[in-house]
Amino acid sequence: MISESLFSFQLPTKILFGVGALANLGTELDERGWDSALIVTDQGVRAAGLLARLEAQLQACGAQYEVYDGVVSNPTVAVIEAAQPLAQKQQVLIGLGGGSSIDTAKALNLLRTHGGHVLDWEGNETVPGPCGPLIAIPTTAGTGSEVTCIAQVSVPERKEKLPIISRYLAPDIALVDPQMSASMPARLTAATGMDALTHAIEAATTLAEQPLADLLAFQAIPLINTFLPRAVQDGADMEARAQLAFASTIAGAAFNNGWVALAHAVAHALGGLYDLHHGLCCSLALPLAMEFNLEVKREKYLRIAELLGQTTAEAGIARVRELAREIGIPSGLRELGLSADEGELEKIAQLALSDGSIFFNPREVGEEEMKRLVREIF
Ligand SMILES: NC(=O)c1ccc[n+]([C@@H]2O[C@H](COP(=O)([O-])OP(=O)(O)OC[C@H]3O[C@@H](n4cnc5c(N)ncnc54)[C@H](O)[C@@H]3O)[C@@H](O)[C@H]2O)c1
Ligand SMILES: [Fe+2]
Repeated sequence: MISESLFSFQLPTKILFGVGALANLGTELDERGWDSALIVTDQGVRAAGLLARLEAQLQACGAQYEVYDGVVSNPTVAVIEAAQPLAQKQQVLIGLGGGSSIDTAKALNLLRTHGGHVLDWEGNETVPGPCGPLIAIPTTAGTGSEVTCIAQVSVPERKEKLPIISRYLAPDIALVDPQMSASMPARLTAATGMDALTHAIEAATTLAEQPLADLLAFQAIPLINTFLPRAVQDGADMEARAQLAFASTIAGAAFNNGWVALAHAVAHALGGLYDLHHGLCCSLALPLAMEFNLEVKREKYLRIAELLGQTTAEAGIARVRELAREIGIPSGLRELGLSADEGELEKIAQLALSDGSIFFNPREVGEEEMKRLVREIF
């Protein structure tokens, strides 16, 4: 009931959305007097021809720029710190790519403004003040990182993924051009789309759930249900790409305020330990987390089920599984040749139980329950 709610909602990022929106970059730079940039991206984005498109826009408006294309999926501390000398020289950072490139740009922006090492800033609200100018141009439709105040950093020596969370990390501008995601192969489209679905479903069912986050999450859920299979089937379907890009961005804004929970805690643990794609991990964990939370969130899950075209909360969870199957997500990590012994299950469970997302889960998770859930992911 809204009469019993107390909530705040932050969206510090200006969203510029539309097919062809990349052509507006020059105007955005001009308006702010930004005339030099460091593009932060990866080799896959370059190979897909997306870096060339951005470079053409920067050349057309006469902006000076350099490129750092050393980002890796699940970006590491080393990858971020390697770009620091380049970041220091340019006015604006442009994160071009999936969540990995955008998160790298956020962390770099933090380092170039406030100094120190990446891990000095681990945790919640550790950043003392605003960072430099940052533009995010997503080329996947999943993470929502273009509008969030989070950067996820991998620490290979610890086999962990750690968050830096601060409102000062949020990009100034999210330039969301669905054309930039059209080159995603089907498997990446599928996994990133399931990340967005996980953001929407979790944001609406955490301890921090709130009406404005719900509004966005409830809009995103049916869009993903309808358009994700279409985009996986035909990557050139621009209506499907645009709907997914929109759904992903609004699901990002939703979870930036309503937060995420159990599925993400497990996904972060698996991602850190096995260097797996985040969306895949989310997809595997989501229905299990929903089942675990069902009894404490039945009403919300019924609403979610309806948005997925179902009539019972249980059928909603079944639909999430069916959707994953329909778009070719593996049914378990076993299919990828991975297995875990008791010790490894224990380790994953411990990592998930200490992940920040778990504190927002609507039902407390015990050690044995977590181990059982993780076992089912294999
Ligand atoms: N900051 C946040 O709010 C947030 C939220 C969710 C996830 N994440 C993080 O984001 C990362 C995952 O990001 P992601 O799922 O977007 O993938 P990604 O950025 O790791 O990219 C995966 C691969 O896809 C390629 N790629 C990207 N766009 C492409 C395109 N249009 N065409 C062809 N190839 C393309 C990349 O080159 C890369 O090889 C993880 O580290 C995850 O933890 C961050
Ligand atoms: Fe996610």
